Amino acid sequence: MSHDLFEAARGAMAFAHAPYSKFPVGAAIRAEDGKIYTGANIENLSFPQGWCAEPTAISQMIMGGAKNIVEMAVIAEKLPLCPPCGGCRQKIAEFAGKETRIYLCDETGVKKTMTMDEMLPFSFETEVLG
Ligand code: THU
Repeated sequence: MSHDLFEAARGAMAFAHAPYSKFPVGAAIRAEDGKIYTGANIENLSFPQGWCAEPTAISQMIMGGAKNIVEMAVIAEKLPLCPPCGGCRQKIAEFAGKETRIYLCDETGVKKTMTMDEMLPFSFETEVLG
């Protein structure tokens, strides 16, 4: 059931600190412990120091003791089906599998479902680093 994740992402978006871009984003992760971890983008006056909603949610998950993203929802008030940026795809991939579903939302619910493999094909993988 992805609607609860959508609602969690939408709720998280209300916490966005986005005074510069005025582009609030919310993200919600269902982790292997069954819990939902949420995040919003947090910008900074020194623009490059800000970060996206997805790493906020990942931080919450890690500090909650979970390690695996079962499914994830992303929403942006001003962009229906807002796709996670390239850097976020790599960050999500660290804790997800190829079949992990990413839900892209509009203001009413989940509008598109993609797997991580579709989102980040030919991703960086090597046994050299373990
Ligand atoms: N943003 C996210 O939070 N996630 C994304 O995947 C795309 C971009 C944020 C970063 C910045 O605060 C604002 O959206 C405009 O780029």
